[in-house]
Parts: sequence; C-alpha cells; structure tokens
Amino acid sequence: MKFLHVVGARPNFMKAAPVFRALAALGHQQVLVHTGQHYDALMSDVFFKGLGIPDPDESLNVGSGSHAQQTGAIMSKFEPVVLAHNPDFVLVYGDVNSTVAAALVSAKLGIRVAHVESGLRSFDRGMPEEINRLVTDQLADLLFTPSADGDENLAREGVAKEKIHLVGNVMIDTLIRFLPQADEVFPKLQAELGLGAFGLITLHRPSNVDEEATFLPMLDTLDSLSQTLPLLFPVHPRTRQKWSARLAQCSPHLRIIDPQGYLEFLALQKNARVVVTDSGGIQEETTYLGTPCLTLRENTERPITITHGTNVLIGRDWQLLRKHFHEALDGRPKEAGRPPLWDGKASERIAEILSRQTT
Ligand code: UD1
Repeated sequence: MKFLHVVGARPNFMKAAPVFRALAALGHQQVLVHTGQHYDALMSDVFFKGLGIPDPDESLNVGSGSHAQQTGAIMSKFEPVVLAHNPDFVLVYGDVNSTVAAALVSAKLGIRVAHVESGLRSFDRGMPEEINRLVTDQLADLLFTPSADGDENLAREGVAKEKIHLVGNVMIDTLIRFLPQADEVFPKLQAELGLGAFGLITLHRPSNVDEEATFLPMLDTLDSLSQTLPLLFPVHPRTRQKWSARLAQCSPHLRIIDPQGYLEFLALQKNARVVVTDSGGIQEETTYLGTPCLTLRENTERPITITHGTNVLIGRDWQLLRKHFHEALDGRPKEAGRPPLWDGKASERIAEILSRQTT
C-alpha cells in the first residue's frame, strides 16, 4: 500500500518518525510531505537529523502567516502534490494547522485520512489547536487515539466506533527509543551550559506570549523563582521576536537559550527538577519521565497527565505557581507515569491496523 505522511511543525516530527519506521518495516511505499509551517533550522532541520527521518519527498515551503493564510497556503499547495502521488491513505499528526489543512484537502478529493493522536479535547475553542482537532476528527476515516479519554470524546461527537482505534502514544514511542541517546548527550550539554540543579521553561502559546498583561507578570514570577533554582528558557522564535528587549533584562539565573534539538531537550526534561510549560507534548513527556510539570494553562487536552502523571494545571495564578514550584523542589520525586499503552509500541499497532485496510 502507499501512505503519504504530512508534517509541518515541530511537534509533528517526533510523532511521524516511528509510524514511518513501522510502515517501512512492513514494506509499504511511503511519501513524506513537509509543509514548511516551521522553517527555522532550529525548529525543523535539527529534528529531521536527530530523529533519523528521511528528507521530505515534497516541501511546500508555506512559511508563516495568519491562520487563514497559513492553512489556505498549505491547502492550495498540497492539493496537486497529493493528486500526483495518489496514496491509499494520507496520515496527519496532532493538531497543528498543517494537520487540518491536509485532512480537508484529502477528504474533498476522496482520499482516506488517518489521524494520529486523535480524540484529544481541551473543550476550549479559543485555542486554535482545538478547532484543528475537531475538524480533523470529523473528516478522518481512521482515528488513532493515545488514551481512552480520546475514544470517549469521539464517541460523544458521533464518530463511528469502527473507525476509532486506541493504540497508545506515538510520541512516547520516540521518547523510549531515543532516551539512551539523550542520556549520552547530557554530559556535554551540562558542561556547555554549566548546569547544576536547574528548572526548564517553555512558553509559546499565543494566549500566554502575545499579551503584555499576561506575559510580563508571568516572566516576572519566573525571573524571581530563578533566584531559588536557576531556570533555562529555550525560546520559541515567536516569543523571541515579540519580547527580545524584555527578555534581555532578565536576571542571569533565568537563562535565555535557543530552541533545542530533540535529544538535547529530552535530556533537559529528564534532568530538570521542575518543568514549567504551556506545551501539550511536554505534559506527556514529563509524565513519562517523572519530572514535575507545572502547566501555565487553564485546561489540558491531555487529562491523563494529571490523573496518571506529574502534571498540575496552574492557569495564570502566580501564587499557585510559586506554591507548586517550591513543592516540586521540596517534595519527593514523583513516580514516572505509565498510562496504559504508553509502551513504545503504538506505531507498530498503527502500522498493523493500516496494513489490514483495503487498497
Ligand atoms: C505551532 C502549532 C502549535 C505547536 C507549536 C510548536 C498551530 C496552530 N500551532 O505553533 O500547536 O505547539 O507549533 O512549536 O499549528 N516562527 C518562526 N520560525 C519558525 C516557525 C515559526 O520564526 O520556524 C514564528 C513566526 O513568527 C510565526 C510564529 O512563529 O508567525 C508562529 O508560528 P506558527 O507555525 O503559526 O505557530 P506556532 O506558534 O509555532
């Protein structure tokens, strides 16, 4: 059979890599399309190298823009490409603009769509990713969920049961595979960055980094917490563009660094005393690694990281952030979370189910 994978933004790469490998092991024909939603070397190229993904067969080079511009550009550039390759299935990943754009084009052409990491819901339509999830899941022919809450959400939205497959978490497949290599890079990273005990920050959601009234008190709180525990902050290009002058005024204990490669970031997450984030994937990775995770959002589409893992929702309550930050440092390390089927074999299950489909 022939499968066409669509990737575009940083969090897609580690999800597509193990599915690509598992389908290759079964001898299927595959095409990799990179939309170019993320284009900086540090947001894209380093992941292809680090994860051993082959170079894309097709690059759409769409770049940045408003949501409509970006999604529209992906759609119009993707249509001739998918028609030329005429795959049995288009595989889309996660919840980024590239995911929904490729799903919409494929569905209208009558090409079957498989959505990997389906069914997650924050129930917050103010998040662009939630819109992308809802639309993609309505269009998909096969829906691969990472956890049982995903199956429940899809059933509630009227998705036919036969289309839904609980397979586990493909991002954790990649984590398990690369953890030994991440352990190997850590000493070098530690020496380069002069690390003792440290905490790790990632922030990129428009709701957190776009508005001065939110971002500045958040940054001030983190700046002051860095006096207790030095904090590393690899900055997303969007945040850097917007706040470079203000970031330059932070105390030297709040270290602003470039976005990190996959292995490096994994090593940092594993060895951090605490992670402060607004990312979805990092809530899952810290759960698996047993690192305390404080999430600067009001909700999460990954509730299993709270019930089975190390995640705490902080919202914008800076007092609560301080409280949990200190608790994370004082408390016993939490046990690593092992939600069902987060076993490194989700991609194999996906490849097996895809292989059973008719051509
Ligand atoms: C996207 C995803 C988000 C994911 C995040 C991971 C959507 C709706 N959002 O958000 O779910 O968690 O990726 O990083 O798809 N930029 C660069 N260089 C790049 C990419 C982006 O400078 O390589 C800057 C541009 O100014 C751009 C802005 O970042 O306008 C936002 O990029 P975009 O892809 O629209 O969304 P992200 O915030 O990266």
